[in-house]
Amino acid sequence: MKIMVVGGGGREHAIIKKIKENKNVTEIFAVPGNGGMAKDATLVPIGAKDIPAIVEFAKNEKIDYAVVAPDDPLVLGCVDALEAIGVPCFGPRANAAIIEGSKVFSKNLMKKYGIPTAGYEVFDNAEAALEYVKTCPIPTVVKADGLALGKGVIIATEREMAVDAVKSIMEDKKFGESGSRIVVEEFLTGPEVSVLSFTDGKVVIPMVSSMDHKRALDGDEGLNTGGMGTIAPNPYYTEAVAKECMEKIFLPTIEAMNKEGRTFKGCLYFGLMLTPDGPKVIEYNCRFGDPETQVVLPLLESDLLDVMMATTNETLDKCEVRFANGAACCVVMASRGYPEKYESGYEITIDDEVFDSVYVAGAKLSDGKLVNAGGRVLGVTAVASDLGSAIKAAYKKCEKVKFENAYYRSDIGAKAMKALEEN
Ligand code: AMP
Ligand code: GLY
Repeated sequence: MKIMVVGGGGREHAIIKKIKENKNVTEIFAVPGNGGMAKDATLVPIGAKDIPAIVEFAKNEKIDYAVVAPDDPLVLGCVDALEAIGVPCFGPRANAAIIEGSKVFSKNLMKKYGIPTAGYEVFDNAEAALEYVKTCPIPTVVKADGLALGKGVIIATEREMAVDAVKSIMEDKKFGESGSRIVVEEFLTGPEVSVLSFTDGKVVIPMVSSMDHKRALDGDEGLNTGGMGTIAPNPYYTEAVAKECMEKIFLPTIEAMNKEGRTFKGCLYFGLMLTPDGPKVIEYNCRFGDPETQVVLPLLESDLLDVMMATTNETLDKCEVRFANGAACCVVMASRGYPEKYESGYEITIDDEVFDSVYVAGAKLSDGKLVNAGGRVLGVTAVASDLGSAIKAAYKKCEKVKFENAYYRSDIGAKAMKALEEN
């Protein structure tokens, strides 16, 4: 089978490494992938948002199955376009990807179907929004409606920040057209849990839970990033919480999407907060999370491609999806200075013994050498029988990966270990 994976980050590398385990796979194309994946896939220099070119490539190469991994092409209808030429895909069609593509859509969906989430107001003009934030409870959360590279969320701890957020999103269009509507939301507290799930629109199978570490520096200090590391499973996500989430959030969401005529097939990501009033949805993503995928997929014991194809064929009820009992930790190695200014172009060396545990996100081949070409350069994952050992092993492996100005947090998993010790 010839497989095409659209996307080019650490998440896609983790998907590719897992798909490679399937014996029927003869070739994997990464569109565009990155230089760090060159040993695992054939790189195709087509942008992940260039849907006409992706379709043309799939047709010419007679691709048997496509995995569309990032949010942008999903929201833009990449799956619809590939299906139209007969290429089966993993991922939702555009009419379902809107669950991530529009925060206004997802908030209204949750309100309509009674799915627990933060209280909110929607605004499509700055004046009304500014009037509202003058008196609303603080802290408050201001969110651009559309995709904003994960940066369209501002937690305003002071009223002035909320006013500035509204102005920068709606008036200065800091996130472009994605900010022509905003959601102003109640500030929630509690541990956060990421739950990725497989769904074919009929059944929903949650994967092992995980925890992201979004801030740049140790102790959850510094700026928000695309994710500095992950652990799985998330100790806050107990069996009782999982049961409540299934009943109140996961199944109702799948049913709500069906009722709206927007059946969701693929990976639906639930970003949850375990508040004192129970679990609530912070956000939906229409795809695998990054860097959650880099800890979740290494724990998957079932064949990923078989599971993916079962979501496409609506046979997930007959498919076994089994996860290992152990734990995983992924430490993201970034360029010092990220998410602000950083330097690129330094050679990356990865010892052979850890090669299989490295998921490359921001790198390219230059004169045959792998050099860093992004803020988040790569993730290093270890799997072990317990979380403490996985964390130790991941940090040990990081010593086998080198590039100038490498930076990584030293406390990935520390909060989870504390939670485990307290229980
Ligand atoms: P997002 O980009 O939607 O993942 O949001 C980024 C982060 O903002 C989340 O991971 C939460 O930590 C935080 N956040 C989003 N919405 C809320 C909320 N209503 N209350 C508290 N924190 C929030
Ligand atoms: N890790 C959060 C995301 O993928 O959006």
